[in-house]
Amino acid sequence: MYKIRKAEKLAENIFLMDVEAPRIAKSCEPGQFLIVKMDEKGERIPLTICDYHREDGTVTIVFQIVGASTKKMAELQAGDSFRDVIGPLGQASEFIHEPAAELKEKKYLFVAGGVGTAPVYPQVKWMKENGIDVDVIVGAKNKDLLILEDEMRAVAGNLYVTTDDGSYERKGMVTEVIKDLVQNEGKHYDQVVAIGPMIMMKFVCLLTRELGLPTIVSLNPIMVDGTGMCGACRVTVGDQVKFACVDGPEFDGHLVNFDEAMKRQTIYKTQEGRAMLKLQE
Ligand code: FES
Repeated sequence: MYKIRKAEKLAENIFLMDVEAPRIAKSCEPGQFLIVKMDEKGERIPLTICDYHREDGTVTIVFQIVGASTKKMAELQAGDSFRDVIGPLGQASEFIHEPAAELKEKKYLFVAGGVGTAPVYPQVKWMKENGIDVDVIVGAKNKDLLILEDEMRAVAGNLYVTTDDGSYERKGMVTEVIKDLVQNEGKHYDQVVAIGPMIMMKFVCLLTRELGLPTIVSLNPIMVDGTGMCGACRVTVGDQVKFACVDGPEFDGHLVNFDEAMKRQTIYKTQEGRAMLKLQE
């Protein structure tokens, strides 16, 4: 059993939990994810690791209610437990393997959209801990849906916040901020990392290709086993078929077939709808 030490609502339908999982906390790296199971027959829910405390033996997860299982999960409180927490899964972000001297020469821009701010956070924190200042753009639909702002401000070199409706900081999409930084402020980036809704990553990649900025994205397709066996998380990257759970979740964004990935994400919509209705009965 994996005890929940803290459970907190961050925004409407977005929750944060600190979970006791010492083995994962000890070995996980930025970019990786885990899978939780609430009970023996429960659905396996893949979640990005938002933070980890090696000494404390805890990992922080952030999730959004997207269906019946995550709705049930949001009801768990501190003191409750998960039946299983499996991980760390997937490949760590590539930059952690780069020689420090080379990494310090590079200029990174992180672009986070919505709940995608959670997986971006440990990457930016890692950079800060390794003496590298990076620029970060965080985009949210509105002020109420903006998460982890203080945490991000503490680790980012420069933080640019934007909301779609202009209810907080600047108004507009993250792509407009990228354009502004590069074209108006004359900033140069060697590497962009974009994590958020599939549609956001698609448009960031269309823009960064035009601007000639290499871009890594982190994909969150439907996953079942998380070990490369079931094929549920299949994505096309360049002319190759990849499994996001073992080959990713991070890929070269300029090679990802986003249209196909978005289509595959809708496969379970009907079943999810039925499960939600059942929960409300
Ligand atoms: Fe089954 Fe990736 S989740 S192959």
